[in-house]
Amino acid sequence: GGSTPEPAKEPAKEPAKEAGADIQEMTIKISHVVAENTPKHQGALAMKKAIEEASGGKIKVQVFPNSSLFGDKDEYQNLVANNAQFIIPDMAKLVGNDPGFNIPSMPFLFSSDEAANAFWDGPKGQEIFKRLEKDGALGMGMWPNGPKHITNNKKPIKAPEDFNGLKFRTQGGQVLEKLYSTLSAGSVSIPFNELYTALQQGTVDGQENTFSNIESKKFDEVQKYMTIMGHTRVDYALLTNTKFWNSMNDATRKIVEEGVKVGTDFARSQAAELNAAALKKLQERGQIEINELSKEDIQKFRDFLKPVYDEYNPIIGEDVIKDAMSR
Ligand code: LMR
Repeated sequence: GGSTPEPAKEPAKEPAKEAGADIQEMTIKISHVVAENTPKHQGALAMKKAIEEASGGKIKVQVFPNSSLFGDKDEYQNLVANNAQFIIPDMAKLVGNDPGFNIPSMPFLFSSDEAANAFWDGPKGQEIFKRLEKDGALGMGMWPNGPKHITNNKKPIKAPEDFNGLKFRTQGGQVLEKLYSTLSAGSVSIPFNELYTALQQGTVDGQENTFSNIESKKFDEVQKYMTIMGHTRVDYALLTNTKFWNSMNDATRKIVEEGVKVGTDFARSQAAELNAAALKKLQERGQIEINELSKEDIQKFRDFLKPVYDEYNPIIGEDVIKDAMSR
């Protein structure tokens, strides 16, 4: 040991210039599909505040919740066309772009938000984001929402057999479709902003979602039973587009990058709390019968859903699944 500390280096001098002179004036649109009282919207607001403040008001950020600008069906193409500068889709809606986005739908894969965050921050998760670049989309990071739970109108669900013959709405195809067919249930993907009506009219018997999505969209008004399963997750991909990204000079991009970081940290810090608060509200409203499962019940679902892994391990990549499991 015994090494002497290096003398502190002088910070490199920036050429003197008027503060903010280089920052480009612009308006950034962030489009998403969920309600205000959700980690996604709260993260987007934190991002807005950080960017607007750091730019001294030169950059304006507009946040559009509730599919008010674009919905599930058209938000990706409008991002790529630079009609929105950021979208934050549930990864289940990106499985057609890359099968790696099925990861949050793999049953009982992650045990916590932190485990999911660590996977997407790590090399295997980053590789999946990178593969969107061929479309002109850039992955800026994962925002968690959290574990999904089952609601339906037909019966209390406690065992795999209870799914038999019911029809569920999903966020996307592939793994979620396989999951329901393994349970001998039907599934169909329906955009989030059409889901309340689909449940109300009985187009489907049920759906799976996080507490904060169930509560903020009042699905308990149109669903009788909820089973706390946590079998799959809603995790988001914060995406921007290369056209917008490359249009910024360094000073501007730095501010936006810092805003992305602030938004990501805030969304991550809020997700579990907002879900816990939403469960409490659902319990207080008392409109939906809430069923909890024992460890043994959950184990039965794990065993029953093994065929999902058998089919999708090779499609997603054994190494990718292994990395996710190790988190
Ligand atoms: C859903 O469609 O149920 C969710 O993906 C909505 C969301 O963005 O959280």
